[in-house]
Amino acid sequence: MKKALCVVGTRPEAIKMAPVIQALRREPWAQVRVLATAQHRHMLDQVLRLFGIEPDIDLDIMRPDQALTTLTARLLLDLDDVLLAERPDVVLAQGDTTTVMAVALACFYHRVPFGHVEAGLRTGDMDNPFPEEMNRVVAGRMARWHFAPTATARQNLLREGVPETSIHLTGNTVIDALLDVAARRPAIGVALDDAKRLVLVTAHRRENFGEPFREICRAVRDLVDRNADIQVLYPVHPNPNVSTVAHALLGGHDRIVLCPPLDYLPFVGAMQRAYLILSDSGGVQEEAPALATPVLVLRRETERPEAVDAGVVRLVGPDHDRILAEAQRLLDDETAYAEMARGVSPYGDGKAAARIVDVLRSAFHD
Ligand code: UD1
Ligand code: UDP
Repeated sequence: MKKALCVVGTRPEAIKMAPVIQALRREPWAQVRVLATAQHRHMLDQVLRLFGIEPDIDLDIMRPDQALTTLTARLLLDLDDVLLAERPDVVLAQGDTTTVMAVALACFYHRVPFGHVEAGLRTGDMDNPFPEEMNRVVAGRMARWHFAPTATARQNLLREGVPETSIHLTGNTVIDALLDVAARRPAIGVALDDAKRLVLVTAHRRENFGEPFREICRAVRDLVDRNADIQVLYPVHPNPNVSTVAHALLGGHDRIVLCPPLDYLPFVGAMQRAYLILSDSGGVQEEAPALATPVLVLRRETERPEAVDAGVVRLVGPDHDRILAEAQRLLDDETAYAEMARGVSPYGDGKAAARIVDVLRSAFHD
């Protein structure tokens, strides 16, 4: 038996690691252990519950409005104890959160092979997204296996000198999770007006905190005021830098529904039902194209160029006038809308986890 320690910290990591954990559990050679750093608490727990995953170890690291340095330091201290006690043969983690960066570094110090799920995403700009670009570069430097979701991500790694033999093109596991959940035809569970077109909003990026985020909120409010036939559903991220401003600028409007983060099942229902999505989320940029829902991305840069190149996602930045103009165009112009609502899936075919497990099986078992 080989011991595989699968690490999850935040909501998107749990969504994207769930298919890997489930697939590994079916392997007779693998003893799967799940470590929740719980960098997120409620948002993590709801995903683990949905996919029937009970963590074996829970570091309960989340604190309200925790600083990145504190978070990193506390993670490293706790991970030291975990790696000494568990002595895993392989550690797997996904993406670019502070959890993943700390896990990769701790594995390096303990000489434990690290497998990076969703490897090779890059903007080339350390400030966008912040601190995720640095996190994934650090995690990538430590990785023994790089599970690249797309050919672009694979190319990014090759350009950085990563040996070709340690890069595996797998697709993104988010599509595995999405297809599973979308097939359940989830209800949104929030009272909405069926006669109105739904604009779904999410925002949480640190580089947008302050004025850029206020601009986003003002654009959302102006869009609703100019279009009597739309309503906004905005599940507000619990980071106080986001929630305080969102409630101050968007609260009290009769066609803007602010709610706590939706569980993954109803959120997928909302993405399916939405006419248009405004979001700075990484995961949403990957999922919405597969559901044929156009996304305007509230960021200056994206590490996910594939959907932009396919014309089904558009980068508008946290720019009031641009958000308003692009959203209005999609509300008014049926042809422009149809071009963006084509339903393409550049990020995967739902079999990424199986490919990751194939690689590990041949490394450890065959
Ligand atoms: C983190 C990741 C980001 C990822 C995002 C997904 C880092 C630095 N950031 O951002 O890459 O895109 O998760 O959502 O790793 N909070 C709660 N309850 C929760 C979760 C968060 O109250 O369940 C609040 C807490 O006050 C917490 C704050 O949000 O301190 C920030 O959480 P943190 O994990 O540091 O960063 P996110 O902004 O969530
Ligand atoms: N999501 C969710 N509920 C919400 C908002 C998002 O379940 O209220 C899901 C979304 O479908 C995607 C993931 O959470 O799979 C993205 O998380 P987030 O935007 O927080 O992080 P990012 O992907 O930007 O790292």
